[in-house]
This record gives sequence, C-alpha cells and structure tokens, in this order.
Amino acid sequence: MSSHQLQARKTVKDIAAAKSSSPLVCLTAYTAPMAELLDPRCDILLVGDSVGMVVHGLPSTVGVTIDMMILHAQAVMRRSTRALVVVDMPFGSYESGPEQAFANASRLMMETGCQGVKIESGVYAAQTVRFLVERGVPVMAHVGLRPQATHVDGGFRAKGRTEEERARVLSEARAADEAGCFAMVVEGVAEDLAREITAAVSCPTIGIGASAACDGQILVTEDLLGLFEWTPKFVRRYGDLRSAVTGAVDAYARDVAARSFPGPAETYAFKPPGKSQRS
Ligand code: KIV
Repeated sequence: MSSHQLQARKTVKDIAAAKSSSPLVCLTAYTAPMAELLDPRCDILLVGDSVGMVVHGLPSTVGVTIDMMILHAQAVMRRSTRALVVVDMPFGSYESGPEQAFANASRLMMETGCQGVKIESGVYAAQTVRFLVERGVPVMAHVGLRPQATHVDGGFRAKGRTEEERARVLSEARAADEAGCFAMVVEGVAEDLAREITAAVSCPTIGIGASAACDGQILVTEDLLGLFEWTPKFVRRYGDLRSAVTGAVDAYARDVAARSFPGPAETYAFKPPGKSQRS
C-alpha cells in the first residue's frame, strides 16, 4: 500500500477549521482518472451538477438527475483517498421540502460514500439545510448566482448588483450559515459583497467568480485546463487541453493515413510455439 493510500480523508471539521487560515483549494471532478490526479492537490473535490453541461452537453444543469450524480460520484470516490468529496443535489431532488431532500441526500451518501452534499440555497432552503445537518448529512450551501435558477433569472447573471439583490444574497448566506452548513460556495458576486458575506458567516466561503476575498476558491476543472473555446470572465486558464487534444488527434490521424501507425513497436509478432505470446 502506498503512503498516498494511507493518508486519511479530510473531514468537514478540517474544512470548517480552515476559515481565515490558508485558502481552501477546491475543484470539480466527475470521473475516476481526473479524481486520481486532483485528489492529492485539493482540499475538496466537488462532483458538481455542472457535469451535465461539461460532460453530457446539456444546455444547463436543470436536466441532471440524481442517478447521474450517483454514477459520477461513485467513480470519483473510487480513485480519491484524501480530499473531502461533496456531491451536488440536482434540480428537483430537494426543493419540495426537507423529507424529499433527506431521502435523496441519504441515497447520495449511502450509494457513493461521499462526505457531504451541496444545495443551491435560497432563504427558503435554510430549514432543509438544518433538517439534513441534524440528521447527519453535512451540507455545503451555494449562494449568489445559482445555476439551477437560470430559467427564473433569464440566464447566468452575476448577482448582488443592486441594493435589493445584495441584501437578499447576504440574507441567504446568513440563513444557510445559521442552519449549520459546514462551508458555502459563493458564486458570481462582486468583491465587496463576497467580503461582506465572508465576514458575516462562521463557515468558510468558497468563491467562484467571487474574488479573492473568499476563504477558498473553486473552478470547473475543464475550464482551468482550457478544454473549451469559451470560458467565463472569472476563469484563469492554466492549461491548453483543447490544443493538446486536437494536436495529438491530428498527429494520430496523419500517422494512420500514412500507415506509419501502428509501427513495429506497437505490433505483435508471430512467436513459435513454446514462447510467450504476450510480448
Ligand atoms: O456544479 C458545479 O460545478 C458547481 C461549482 C461550479 C461550484 O456548483
């Protein structure tokens, strides 16, 4: 067993204790190979419902189901040992009320082994957060721009640009914090509001498009790796996976066309009986 495998997984207590100390490093993960690469480098791996858009090509996260989340979370859990794994509760899996939320959250935890769930939490959801936490389900809240509400909002729009909206986002954050969430994603808000929320709540805030004023940061991994032609303003591209993939596939296609792939090194040779057929 490698020393990597012997490391204990982070707990929600470790995450909560990071408030205002060193910033939390968080990324999304949807698959086993990506989880294996990210796990030693991240505090939290989020199996986000962004999987619907990033992997399944959906126009928004609204079409994502609880079964999709379970399948991706199981893959991430199989190849991670160190980071805390949080799974998104998709649209329609918790809004009816606390009982519906508990039924689906307990499925996520029991069938995947994840350590917590994330809920896009308007003020109405605070009682659901409390209900889940009291029953043993760690909850990460999500305030500000809430992707599951884009049909109501008319698209993906930054939040808190009017006094009324600022007050609403702040009260959503306070309500989720008082209800016992262990951490909170703050998405798509201006820096001063992110700072105000971070000062107002006792749990760590994890920003996405919410400035460096938060207690940690999260991005969609494929955005930072440069897989897509377009990324939102708040993304910094740390790689160019798009060029790496297209360059490699173009080279492969050229080699296949020229019959230079496969070559001798990639080809099995006849071996007389008695000799191993594997080399
Ligand atoms: O679904 C997701 O990936 C998210 C993050 C972007 C915070 O909610």
